[in-house]
Amino acid sequence: MSLFLKKPLAAFEEDMKKSEMKRVLGKWSLTAIGIGAIIGGGIFVLTGTGAYFHAGPALALSFVIAGIACVFAALCYSEFASMIPVEGSAYAYAYGTIGELFAWVIGWGLILEYAMGSMTVAVSWSGYFNKLLHLFNLHLPDYLTQDPGSYQGSGFSMNLPATVIVLLITALLVKGTKEAAKANNLIVILKVSAVLFVIVVGAFYVNAANWTPFVPEVAQVSNNGEVHDAYGWAGVISGAAAIFFAYVGFDAVSTQAGEAINPKKDVPFAIIMSLLVCTVLYILVSLVLTGMMNYSDFNPAGKYPDAIKAPVAAAFDLAGMPWAVFIITVAATVGLISVMMVMLLGQSRIFMGMSKDGLIPKFFSDLHVKNKTPYKSNILIGLIVALVAGFTPISTLADMTSFGTLFAFTMVCIAVWMLRVKEPNLQRNFKVPALPLIAVLGIGINIFLMSKLNLHAIQLSGAWLVLGVVIYFVYSKQNSKLRKAANA
Ligand code: ALA
Repeated sequence: MSLFLKKPLAAFEEDMKKSEMKRVLGKWSLTAIGIGAIIGGGIFVLTGTGAYFHAGPALALSFVIAGIACVFAALCYSEFASMIPVEGSAYAYAYGTIGELFAWVIGWGLILEYAMGSMTVAVSWSGYFNKLLHLFNLHLPDYLTQDPGSYQGSGFSMNLPATVIVLLITALLVKGTKEAAKANNLIVILKVSAVLFVIVVGAFYVNAANWTPFVPEVAQVSNNGEVHDAYGWAGVISGAAAIFFAYVGFDAVSTQAGEAINPKKDVPFAIIMSLLVCTVLYILVSLVLTGMMNYSDFNPAGKYPDAIKAPVAAAFDLAGMPWAVFIITVAATVGLISVMMVMLLGQSRIFMGMSKDGLIPKFFSDLHVKNKTPYKSNILIGLIVALVAGFTPISTLADMTSFGTLFAFTMVCIAVWMLRVKEPNLQRNFKVPALPLIAVLGIGINIFLMSKLNLHAIQLSGAWLVLGVVIYFVYSKQNSKLRKAANA
C-alpha cells in the first residue's frame, strides 16, 4: 500500500476531542513557551564566532537573515497550527498532507531538534553552572564535571550537573504542564530582563568606530589550523547558518497545541510573537556587542583568547563592568533551564502524537491518572537525555540540532503549499500571505542554511534519518493504526 497514506484532517479533529490532556495554556503562556525555548546559550555564546569567523559587525544582518528564514517557517507553522491543533507539530502536519513515510521521517528528524537539542543544552548548562559556582569560589572536582571522553585524569568521571538538571526538569514535567509553564514564565521574565540589560547598558559603551566598515572586506581567518574566507556578503550569509542555533525553539509552541485553551488562534499568535520578540532582541544584542568590542578582538589567537567562548560577558568585562559577568552568567544558567524544559516537553508531545497513530509503542501516550501527563515517556526521554549528556562528548550535536530543525522547517513550508493547492477551501484561521512565494523562499533559504552546516553534522544527521527509515519498515509500517484501518 502507498507510503503516501494520509491521515484525514477530520481524524485530527477527532483526536483533539478525545484528548484527555488538561487545556491550561493561554496565549501569553504559549508565547512564553516559545521565548523560553529560543533564548538560551546561543545568543550568549555564538555571537563571537559569528562576528569573528563570519560577518564582522554585519553580524546583525546575519541575525536578520536567519530571522527571516525562521519567519517564513513560522508563518507556515502557524497556518497548520490553525488547522491541525494537535500535539505532533511538523510530524502531524506532514501526516495530514504528504503522507505517512514522510511524516515518520520528520518525526524521527525532530528527535535531533528536541532530544539531542536538550542534551546539547544540558552540557552547556553544566558549563554555565560551573562558572557560576566559580564566581562564588566553589569548585566541583573535574571528574564530576567532565564526561569520560573529555576527562584527562584516570578513573570514573561524568558530567554530573548535566545529568542532575535533566532529571530535575523531568520530575517537574511529570508533575504537570501548568507547573512547568509557571516555572517557565518566571524564567522568561528573568532572561528577557537580562537581554534588555545587555542592550540598554551596553548601548552606553558602544564605540561607533567599531561598526566601520560595517561589512568588512573578505579576509582569511584561521580556525583550529583551518584557514577559510570570512566577511563580505558571503560572510554575512555563512554567519546566518553559524548563529541559527540561537533561533531554534519557537516551533516548540506547536507541540503544545494539545494543552492550549484555544489552539487554533493562540498557537499561531504565540509562534509568531515569540519569534518576533527574540528576533528584535537578537539584532539589538549583536549590534551592541560588535559596537562594544571590535570584531577582530574575538580572535581566539589574539589579545583576548577567551572572549570567543563567552563574548557578551567578555565585552562587559573589558568595559570595566565585571559585575555584569555575574548577571549574564546567572541569566544564562537560569535561562537554559527553560530551553531544556520546553525541548523535553516538546519531545514527549511529538512522541505522543506518533504513539497515538501507532507508529511508536503505546507506552509513549500513556497518561498519568492524576497529572494527565505522558509520564512514562517523560521519564524514559529524561533518563536517556540525562545519561547521554552525562557520559558522552557531544561537540557536533549543536549543528545536528540545527539540521533537524531546518529539515522540519523545509518540510512544513512544502506541506503548507501542497495543502493549499489540494484543499484550497479548508477553513484556515490563519493564512500565510503571498503563498507560494513565502513557501518557496522558506524552502530555499532553509535548505541553503542546512548546506552551510558542519559537514560531519550533515553526514551524521543523514545517517540518523536513514536509520529512521529502517525502523519505519521494520516496526511502524506494520503497526500504523491508519494502515490497519485501511486494510480492515
Ligand atoms: N535557541 C536555543 C539556545 O540558544 C536552543 O540555546
